Amino acid sequence: MKNIGLIGCGNIAETYFRSQDYFNNINFIACADKFSEPAKKCAEQYNIKSMTVDEILQDNDVDIILNLTIPQAHYEVSKLALEAGKHVYSEKPMSIKYNEAKDLLELAKINNLYFGNAPDTFLGGGVQMTRQLIDEGEIGKILTGNFIFAFPGVQEFHPNPESWFQLGGGPVIDMGPYFFTTLVNLLGPAKNVRARGKLFSEKREYLVGPKKGKFFDVEISTSVMLDIEFLNETIIQGFISFDVQNHSRNHMELYGTNGSLVVPDPNMFGGPVLLSHELGSKWRELSVENRYLGKTNIINHSGRSNEAPKQSNYRGIGLSEMINSMENNCNHRCNGKLALHVLDIIESIIIAVELKQEVQLRSTCDQPKPFLEEEIQLLLKND
Ligand SMILES: NC(=O)c1ccc[n+]([C@@H]2O[C@H](COP(=O)([O-])OP(=O)(O)OC[C@H]3O[C@@H](n4cnc5c(N)ncnc54)[C@H](O)[C@@H]3O)[C@@H](O)[C@H]2O)c1
Repeated sequence: MKNIGLIGCGNIAETYFRSQDYFNNINFIACADKFSEPAKKCAEQYNIKSMTVDEILQDNDVDIILNLTIPQAHYEVSKLALEAGKHVYSEKPMSIKYNEAKDLLELAKINNLYFGNAPDTFLGGGVQMTRQLIDEGEIGKILTGNFIFAFPGVQEFHPNPESWFQLGGGPVIDMGPYFFTTLVNLLGPAKNVRARGKLFSEKREYLVGPKKGKFFDVEISTSVMLDIEFLNETIIQGFISFDVQNHSRNHMELYGTNGSLVVPDPNMFGGPVLLSHELGSKWRELSVENRYLGKTNIINHSGRSNEAPKQSNYRGIGLSEMINSMENNCNHRCNGKLALHVLDIIESIIIAVELKQEVQLRSTCDQPKPFLEEEIQLLLKND
């Protein structure tokens, strides 16, 4: 069990507090925010201490800082925490700049501290079942594949959508971590990327909230088409967009020498996984409802924190697994090296859009080990 101090009491904090109910080694004791109001509200609701950022960093009872601030603040907050001698687990992305994230990893190493990073959705039943099928050779060698994340943009429901459309925001940095982490988990590290991006309109309209009807500036490509070549020679094509009203494509498909797989949503933990071996044959639906981290646990949700009714969301397992690794003095799966490689893919795609040429990645990482049911069971609360 480790004591957690949370910095950044926004939308996603609620989901992390819920992780205490699922996992047996997470204990929130304090929270802080740039503004005192959200920290006080959060502390009251979860019966923990409200502190300033300085206070939480200096608190001797806090073992790990959970960094749930906005992407643009991740580097600054994680750096302060590591300098204060705290282990860190951060929301995605690790930072908005590759070189800054590299600094964090270095700092953690020098200070002998653990650095963990979201997303942890690849530890879910859906992606882990996919991994098992691939490792067992069910579809042969994976040659190609594709994925899509596309919707109209957060201005549809968010009163302050600006940061998603400014430098440091955009569809690749926002949603890329889920897809790229899942792909590295399934295929191993990547080698190079190519990409084409487009900023279709320099202004967007606020659609909800007090600024409704007014317009804000768009600074980034809102649609990006890309491909990634992995070290194992697999080529994956991706499309990430804030310019699509609706679509009916699968989240991710992988094509092997002996069949094809439809991978469930990398932003969530559930299934099913679809499998087919022959052209025109019926897809076999493989449920993950009997897996610890695949079972549907969200039945009627308000829609906050990316959840729709009937989903599996076990965010926090990455933190729980890191705590367990700290206690057993071994490497954790949602580690900084993986997150740095994913950020390298993201930044290289943005560079490839600008340069209009293939970009070689600077980093590599280990493919995470499969996450076995018996390992997960040890982290679950029994009640
Ligand atoms: N909301 C989601 O559904 C969701 C899902 C998955 C991941 N995430 C990730 O989680 C992170 C937080 O997202 P969110 O939706 O909760 O954002 P949010 O804007 O609702 O909350 C962020 C909080 O961090 C605080 N903050 C900002 N800069 C700070 C600083 N320098 N020091 C201390 N506090 C600071 C803000 O005041 C705010 O309360 C992001 O990295 C996001 O990508 C969000």
